[in-house]
Amino acid sequence: MIIRDVEVRNVQEVARGIFVLSFVSLELSGSTLPGQFINVLVQKGHEPLLRRPFSVYRVEEETVEIIFNVVGKGTVLLAAKKRGDIINILGPLGIPFGTGGSFRNAILIAGGLGIAPMPILAEHLRKNGKHIEVFAGARSGDQLALDHLENTHIATDDGSRGYHGTVVALAEQYLREHPLSEAKIFACGPIRMLAAVSAYAESVTIPCELSLEGEMACGIGICQGCPVERLDGATRYALVCTEGPTFDSTTIILRGA
Ligand SMILES: Cc1cc2nc3c(=O)[nH]c(=O)nc-3n(C[C@H](O)[C@H](O)[C@H](O)COP(=O)(O)OP(=O)(O)OC[C@H]3O[C@@H](n4cnc5c(N)ncnc54)[C@H](O)[C@@H]3O)c2cc1C
Ligand code: FES
Repeated sequence: MIIRDVEVRNVQEVARGIFVLSFVSLELSGSTLPGQFINVLVQKGHEPLLRRPFSVYRVEEETVEIIFNVVGKGTVLLAAKKRGDIINILGPLGIPFGTGGSFRNAILIAGGLGIAPMPILAEHLRKNGKHIEVFAGARSGDQLALDHLENTHIATDDGSRGYHGTVVALAEQYLREHPLSEAKIFACGPIRMLAAVSAYAESVTIPCELSLEGEMACGIGICQGCPVERLDGATRYALVCTEGPTFDSTTIILRGA
């Protein structure tokens, strides 16, 4: 894990209100695994005080990318960064997705900015020889960020692009019509969506990993501010930052779904 000032290389709006920010860090690009995240201090000083967590979206040679939508103070500042600006990063953090193992078909399901860990995940799965199908959902077609992904199936809430409905309903329909054996599901997105994916995975007995992106403060297991309820285990709660953000769907209880 490193903590470093890094130089912003580029910030680009890739879909409505959705930005990709790239920066240079050979250390991070060489060590980050799919599903891990970085905690970003957006600027020096006290505003905003806390670091903001973002999944690593892609790495390419010495460049690392994150993708985010503008929701508040931190992301407004990040979207306004220019080439050469400095941000401070802490990472890579968290437990990565399990990309090895005996499954042959990987089913990636992303809701909204849940697309964030999918390109780096797809890259690793491809290298491991897995077949990949990607299901991506958004409120509307102009909020889809599908670069660097293949075999994509699209759902939008307003029907402006692809299937009219939720991405989970689309995945269920597709997989009913095109069953995939020896499969594993990887999902990231809002809690309600993850709960639906988890229920679906259980009903068809496909192993499933979820990446949780709830609110977080320290990102390193100190503040106890990111609990998720466990189904069983030594303690009642797991910390999303150090024991996640990826979890086997059968090991946690998603509240607020
Ligand atoms: C492990 C992890 C990985 C993440 N990866 C990404 C990513 O790749 N791309 C991305 O866009 N976001 C990601 N997030 C969420 C991201 O960290 C927040 O959107 C960001 O911190 C908001 O900062 P802000 O200062 O702009 O907003 P704030 O001013 O902090 O908040 C603005 C509003 O957004 C709400 N909010 C803040 N954080 C979240 C959240 N996590 N979920 C739902 N609502 C929230 C607040 O309650 C408030 O209403 C991730 C979160 C975690 C924990
Ligand atoms: S964010 Fe502080 S313990 Fe997880």
